[in-house]
Amino acid sequence: MKTSRFAAVSFVLTLAGAALAAYAADASANWTEHCAKCHGPDGRGQTKMGKKLGLRDLADAKVQAKFTDEEALKAMKKGLTDDKGKVTMKPTEGLSEDEIKALVPFVRALKK
Ligand code: HEC
Repeated sequence: MKTSRFAAVSFVLTLAGAALAAYAADASANWTEHCAKCHGPDGRGQTKMGKKLGLRDLADAKVQAKFTDEEALKAMKKGLTDDKGKVTMKPTEGLSEDEIKALVPFVRALKK
């Protein structure tokens, strides 16, 4: 009896762990595919596109403090324009609502 309860608990924990790992892996793969060409793999924006666009360093805590999770989500969904109305960050295409939402904690975790 005791053993089977232990087995059930560890089975549930294993499932939860696997789900979390899959979640993190997806966000990371999506970042690489959809975001890194501008923001760079580490979020520092040191790419050709990033330099051209004058991207801020997403690994910098001060930069991260300048936007809320809602603003990050909105930037991904609706895109961003500069003060002249020119589109600088395009709305994200090809990702589901959940996948976009999962990128918010991923972006936060870029902070060093
Ligand atoms: C075409 C280049 C480009 C791509 C691709 C891109 N971004 Fe951006 N991103 C920008 C620009 C430009 C800004 C505005 C300047 C800045 O914040 O450095 C920005 C700003 C942001 C911000 C700050 C938002 C705010 O309100 O200040 C976040 C968060 C962000 N991007 C996340 C992402 C994520 C996540 C992806 C992938 C789904 C992505 N970006 C893809 C160019 C890009």
